[in-house]
Amino acid sequence: MIDPASDTVLVTGAAGAIGTALRDGLREHWRHLRLTDIKPIRDPSPNEEPIVADVADRVALERMMQGVRAVVHLAGMIGNYDLESLFRVNARGLFDVFETARLSGVERIVFASSNHAFGCYPITERVTPALPPRPDSLYGVFKVWGETMLRNYYDRHGIRSVSLRIGTYRTLPIDQRSLATWLSPGDVAHLVDVSLRHPDPGCLVVNGYSNNTRLKTYDPNWAFLGYQPRDNAEDHREMLRAQGVDVDGPDKDEWEWPEHGGSHAQAPERPVRSV
Ligand SMILES: NC(=O)c1ccc[n+]([C@@H]2O[C@H](COP(=O)([O-])OP(=O)(O)OC[C@H]3O[C@@H](n4cnc5c(N)ncnc54)[C@H](O)[C@@H]3O)[C@@H](O)[C@H]2O)c1
Repeated sequence: MIDPASDTVLVTGAAGAIGTALRDGLREHWRHLRLTDIKPIRDPSPNEEPIVADVADRVALERMMQGVRAVVHLAGMIGNYDLESLFRVNARGLFDVFETARLSGVERIVFASSNHAFGCYPITERVTPALPPRPDSLYGVFKVWGETMLRNYYDRHGIRSVSLRIGTYRTLPIDQRSLATWLSPGDVAHLVDVSLRHPDPGCLVVNGYSNNTRLKTYDPNWAFLGYQPRDNAEDHREMLRAQGVDVDGPDKDEWEWPEHGGSHAQAPERPVRSV
């Protein structure tokens, strides 16, 4: 178990959307959060230690791993990336974060994986983390690669980890799909908190969703981990309806996407360089 009262936790990508939600949820209970990002980290509390650095800077990573017992790895390209940036940050950067953590004696890694690790499964299949991955994009492939590295770290080095296959993290649900895939700010903080505190998660892969009525997945690992999500996208259904979202289609099993990965599952790969 990682002890909130005594252990230092490093969070990468801490200036991002999920990083900000984690700070809000964790800073009250965790004694020392070391926060890193390539962007400035705003308004640190006394128990938050900000470090501006690129995950490609191995020397900076080695320095910031000192005294760290657990790493929460969030840094990554999402949404608007070109292929080279994806390789540099989500593959090479991920490798350097994990390797410096291993070589520094870090005991627990919590990794922001993604539902795109299994995005090619048809939506009619109630996916559990026990099924083989079916990534829907190179983004998803690199998430699976991160999960696989952590499998190797557990088997070879005894490093315990939890890979979170996050659905749609937003303050509120945004579209029809997120009625099933939403993960709320409060629930993501709770999920990371239990992933750090669990005495022995082994090498766990877990789905990162809120307690949505329309979940299309099933995850027995929630009970094992002690994850009890409180929020439900359904509570925001009327807000979505007012925005013109078809919230009634799913009642008739008419989802706007046939696979778990949504539009990612059918999107063409991105060009090598953005134009
Ligand atoms: N938001 C979601 O719905 C979602 C879903 C599945 C998985 N995830 C994963 O969760 C993680 C966090 O996502 P988010 O929504 O907070 O995204 P975000 O873009 O808000 O945050 C990512 C952070 O990583 C930082 N970063 C990017 N390149 C970096 C580099 N070279 N060095 C250091 N820091 C760098 C960015 O500055 C940013 O603050 C990502 O790994 C993402 O793939 C997010």
